[in-house]
This record gives sequence, C-alpha cells and structure tokens, in this order.
Amino acid sequence: MAFKTRITEMLEIEHPIVQGGMMNVGYAELASAVSNAGGLGIITALTQPSPDALRAEIERCRAMTTKPFAVNVTMLPTITPPDYKAYVQTIIESGVKIVETAGTPEIRELWAMMKPHGIKILHKCTAVRHALSAERAGCDVISIDGFECAGHPGEDDITGLILIPAAADKVKIPMLASGGFGDGRGLVAALALGADGINMGTRFCATVEAPIHPNVKQRIVENDERGTNVIFRAFRNTARVGKNSVSDEVVRRLADPGAVFEDIRELVAGSKGAEMLKSGDMDHGIFWAGMVQGLIHDIPTCQVLIDRIIGEAEAIVRGRLSGMLA
Ligand SMILES: Cc1cc2nc3c(=O)[nH]c(=O)nc-3n(C[C@H](O)[C@H](O)[C@H](O)COP(=O)(O)O)c2cc1C
Repeated sequence: MAFKTRITEMLEIEHPIVQGGMMNVGYAELASAVSNAGGLGIITALTQPSPDALRAEIERCRAMTTKPFAVNVTMLPTITPPDYKAYVQTIIESGVKIVETAGTPEIRELWAMMKPHGIKILHKCTAVRHALSAERAGCDVISIDGFECAGHPGEDDITGLILIPAAADKVKIPMLASGGFGDGRGLVAALALGADGINMGTRFCATVEAPIHPNVKQRIVENDERGTNVIFRAFRNTARVGKNSVSDEVVRRLADPGAVFEDIRELVAGSKGAEMLKSGDMDHGIFWAGMVQGLIHDIPTCQVLIDRIIGEAEAIVRGRLSGMLA
C-alpha cells in the first residue's frame, strides 16, 4: 500500500516522506537509508568541508542507493559565508536533480544557477507570505515549517495546525508539512490539512542509520514534548534546540534584557554541537531537536520507521476515519 500524492509524483518517490536537511547528520548513510526505504533522503551540503568533499559524498550516496536523493543548501546570515556558488556548481555537475534550500532571500541567486539544469527546488519557509513569495520566484515545492520544528521556526510562532492549512489555502504548488511529524497520525493529519507529504528531522535522528552518537538518539527517546528550548529570540534568529544544561544556560543568560550574542557565543558554537553529536557528551554544546521528541519512543531502521508510518496512516484512513462516517 502506498499513498500517491503530488509529492510522490513530482519527486518520483514511493512514499510522501522527506528527510529534512540536517547539519552534521545529513551524511550519505542516512540519506541513502531514507531513499532506499522509499522516502527522499537529503545530504546536507555545508556539513561537507569543501565542494570537493560534497562531490565525494554525493558519489558515496550513489553507491548506496539507486533511488532519488537530494542535497540541502542552507544560507544563514554569517560573518564569513561559505562559497555557496561553488557548492551549487558541484551539485549541478554531480547530476543531483532535487535540492532543498532554506534561509535568506539571496538563496534565489542559487536557484537561478540550478533551474536551467532541471533541478527541482524544495524551499523551506516558516510563514505563508514567504511561501507565496518563494512560489512566485519559481520554486517547485514549499516545505512549510511550523513552530514545533527543530531548527529555525521563524519569528511568528504559528504552529502547524494553523500554518499548514493557512498555507494550503494559498500555495498552488505541492507542499510538504514540516515540524512535529513522526508517525502515521501526523502523516494523515498533514494530508488532511492540505499538504502533499511530510518532512521530518528529529524523528530521523533517532534511527539506526543516523550517523550520530547513540547517547543523542537515547536523549531524543527519553525527552518528552517539553524537551526543547527556544533561544535567540532577541536576535530575531529564533532557534528550537534540545533541552540540556547548555541550552538551559543559554536561556538563563539571554533572560537578561541587556544580553548580547557575545554572552552566549562560546556555548552555542557550531563546532561544539558537532563534537557533541560525535562524542555523545550531552552537556558539551547545543543539539537541534523538536517537540516531536514526545512522540519518539524507539530507534528503528529507516525502513522499519517508514513502513510503520505508512502502515499506521493506512489503518487510520481505512479504519478509524472511514469507520466514523455515519
Ligand atoms: C539535527 C538537525 C539539524 C538540522 N539542520 C538543518 C539545516 O542545516 N538546514 C535546514 O534547512 N534545516 C535543518 N534542520 C531542520 C530540519 O530540516 C527540519 O526542517 C526540522 O527538523 C523539522 O522539524 P522536526 O524536527 O519536528 O521534524 C535541522 C534539524 C535537525 C533535527
């Protein structure tokens, strides 16, 4: 049994389930496992130290799956930006046909490089107005990320229950619902709200193939839906991260109205987060995780996870929902 939606048709995948780009997690092991299970796996470009390393990672993924997979390019405001165009040139030359983008509006310069090569652009947005503007600018799929999500939920704090149908009312191109999805109930809800599929981040971190330390996976399983902290609001760069002693300390320091980024810089260093994912020392840095931790109770393979989500979703549609029709 499979769900056929505009997403499965356009991306030529079996199930309407996408693994969102994840810094320091989106390596070939995870992307290929998701794609082999019938979803769309995504390699994260900037996890690779150079465009040449990305080329090698794409080749490694190709050796592990014959199914479609994508590459994520995330453009965040930073003092020393990476050479985005060189990464994108590598993606084009490597023959990747689907790219997930996120971040500042300048990302559209990268779309302009990719579109002539027939690359489909999935763009991550956190507001209906941004989704409409991205649609007008020519992206192919909107991935709409609610306030529940891990990562950057934007500044409007609109949860998926409102954001997804509000976007579905206006967006014409296919749409992925993102943020807070982890099981078959979520998939059915997303489809009911008007999306054509789901995008999951945190749920895929707690899988056998996610190339991160078992302690991180275990922490995701142990945390409930309250296991996140929202940080950086004062800098208009809001981020939802997993709750631990480091993110608690960030919250404490930023509660001071006079706080500046320097006060927390050393706590939130990306290098520390990356080291933590490898070492499993859960008090070394911050880690990205969403509220969906409250729905995550095991560490399955991607195949078991995706099969289970589809099986649950089918049972809900055929059993629970149709049984309610009087
Ligand atoms: C460990 C981790 C790293 C992430 N890194 C990125 C990233 O580099 N770029 C991006 O666009 N989104 C990133 N995200 C967000 C995911 O792609 C996805 O939008 C989000 O996880 C969806 O919410 P969920 O975690 O509730 O499923 C990351 C999420 C996680 C959990």
